[in-house]
Order: sequence, then structure tokens, then C-alpha cells
Amino acid sequence: MAKIGDIDVGDFPLLLAPMEDVSDPPFRALCKEQGADVVYTEFISSEGLIRDAAKSVMKLDIYEKERPVGIQIFGAVEESMLRSVEIVEASGPDIIDINFGCPVKKVVSKGAGAGILKDIDLMVSLTRAMVNHTKLPVTVKTRLGWDHDSIKIVEVAERLQDVGCAAISIHGRTRAQMYKGDADWGPIAEVKNNPRMHIPVFGNGDVNTPERAIEMRDKYGLDGAMIGRASIGYPWFFNEVKHFMETGTHKAPPTMKERIEAARRHLQMSIDWKGEVLGVFETRRHYTNYFRGIPHFKEYRMKLVTSDQSEDVFSALDLIEKEFGDYQFV
Ligand SMILES: Cc1cc2nc3c(=O)[nH]c(=O)nc-3n(C[C@H](O)[C@H](O)[C@H](O)COP(=O)(O)O)c2cc1C
Repeated sequence: MAKIGDIDVGDFPLLLAPMEDVSDPPFRALCKEQGADVVYTEFISSEGLIRDAAKSVMKLDIYEKERPVGIQIFGAVEESMLRSVEIVEASGPDIIDINFGCPVKKVVSKGAGAGILKDIDLMVSLTRAMVNHTKLPVTVKTRLGWDHDSIKIVEVAERLQDVGCAAISIHGRTRAQMYKGDADWGPIAEVKNNPRMHIPVFGNGDVNTPERAIEMRDKYGLDGAMIGRASIGYPWFFNEVKHFMETGTHKAPPTMKERIEAARRHLQMSIDWKGEVLGVFETRRHYTNYFRGIPHFKEYRMKLVTSDQSEDVFSALDLIEKEFGDYQFV
């Protein structure tokens, strides 16, 4: 049974990865309904939060039904990170997560995200300061290292644990790899096999089938799997993994009607949360996966991703139900 601080997250929990512009409250709620055990917000800039930048502050919204939820922040300046811990705490998350893995240049160039992998002492001291500044469990999400020649993740994880980090999620790539190549879970298993480690070690990167999730548990011995891209437009992935773990068989994919219903609810929740314009716009990226693999669907997909008014998107979904309602997914 894995625990993040005092929070019981079950046996081999499945975590929804933080994903910018994806892991928002509506999507997190859908993933939670479909079996995610812990969900994380997208990363939020500590500098943005302390400037009270509206876009950053909005990202702090959480729904009761998605708990336990972690809010992820990034930054490299201790004072800003501590101030943002206070701001984050006020919105009542269960966990505060630090992003030490974002590979994007504009983040890394400020020494934040994966940039901190070049200064492990700072990574450890920032974590210590944050742990000491809050009663909430502080978790870390990071990568294997800056590049292939500087992988010290076993030592890094142990040091983070020693300053009070409550759990660590490790993406099996280096910063230099960005998203290229395959994620390497071997070094994550080395972290887990370190006899001094007692906090949960969650694996991340390329868990895209139930079989891969089982491999992470049984072959690599990790404490849980953090899932990102496989869930985009496919929140059912979490329950499919769980079903496979329990029965050894594949769960039938969601029916067309279930997909249409999820798309409708996703759109409605997005509009309720961020208004018509952004709600319509930001739900678009999910439709391709909701309706992947259906022949002769292009014209309908185009309607979903080019309509600016929610009523047009809802009408397109009605039309899809009429035309494709009986389509059988295999
Ligand atoms: C669209 C997108 C946005 C992401 N945004 C974040 C983020 O805000 N914070 C973070 O720690 N990682 C972020 N990531 C990385 C994911 O959390 C995850 O580490 C990565 O996608 C590998 O896992 P996967 O193979 O299951 O997708 C993002 C990834 C994607 C695809």
C-alpha cells in the first residue's frame, strides 16, 4: 500500500501526470472518475503566482471530487517558491509537487524545471525549504538527469527523501532527450532498489498500454505509474489498466455513446470552468483521441475542432451520435 505523507493512495496507484493545458479541473475530474488514484495540476509558475498573474491563479482551482490532488509549481528562487507555497496552500490541495523536470528552454534557462538538474545542491535545499514551510506532503517530479553523462538519480532521490520529500515521480528520460527515444525505467528501478529508500517511487514515461503498466510494477518493482499522454482524450485508460491488473484480460473499449457523452461533459465542464471561448478552444485537443480510428470521420472531426461556438460543437456531437452511434470499436 503506497502512502504520500498520510494519504493512502492504494496498491500500485495510477497517477495522472501534470500536463500543461491538459490537466485542468474538467480533465482531471474525468480521469478521476475513470480510475486515476492521484491527479496533478499542470505546472504553475511561482513567479506568476506571486505577481498574481490571473492565468497562474486560475490554475489553482480544484474540485472536491478529484481528491487527492497535487498542485505542481516550478521556479528556482527560494523566496518565490516559499511565497507560492503559501498561495497554493490557500486553495486546499492535498499535495504540493515541485517540477524539477520541465525541459522547455524558457523554464530551464532560468534554472527552473529540469534546469535545476545542473545544481543538485539547490534542488535539495529548495525542497528542504518547501518541506519545512508547509504541513502538506511535498512531492517531486523530475527526470533521470541533465544528460546521459550526468545521471545521478539514485543519489539525488535519496537526498530528496532525506530532506522530507514525501514521494518522487521520475520520468525515464534526461533533459537532453526532451521527449525523444524510449523512456528508460532501469535507473528508476535502481532508485527503488536502494535499500535506504522508503518513500514511494513512481515511474513515468511511455506507459501506453496496460501491459506496460504491469511491467512497471512486476519487472521494475515500482510503487505506482504516472500516466501522461496515453490519457489525453482517453481518460478510460486508467480503468483499462486496473481491469488488466485484476483480471489479466483487456477491458472492452468505451462505446461510441460513452465517448460522445464524455466529450459532451468535458466540453460543458470546461465552459463552466473557464468560459465559452477558452472552454471551446481548450477542449479541442482531446477530440482526436476520443474518436480515433473511425473511418470517414475527418469531416466530423473538423467540425469539432474548428467550431468557435459551443452550440456548434454540441450539434456536431449530436450529428456524430446519429451517424456513428452504433460504430463498434475493437
Ligand atoms: C502536453 C504536455 C504537457 C506537459 N506539461 C507538464 C507539466 O506541466 N509539468 C510536468 O511535470 N510535466 C509535464 N509534461 C510531462 C508529463 O508529465 C510526462 O512526464 C511525460 O509526458 C512523459 O509521460 P508519458 O509518456 O506518460 O506522457 C507534459 C507533457 C505533455 C505531453
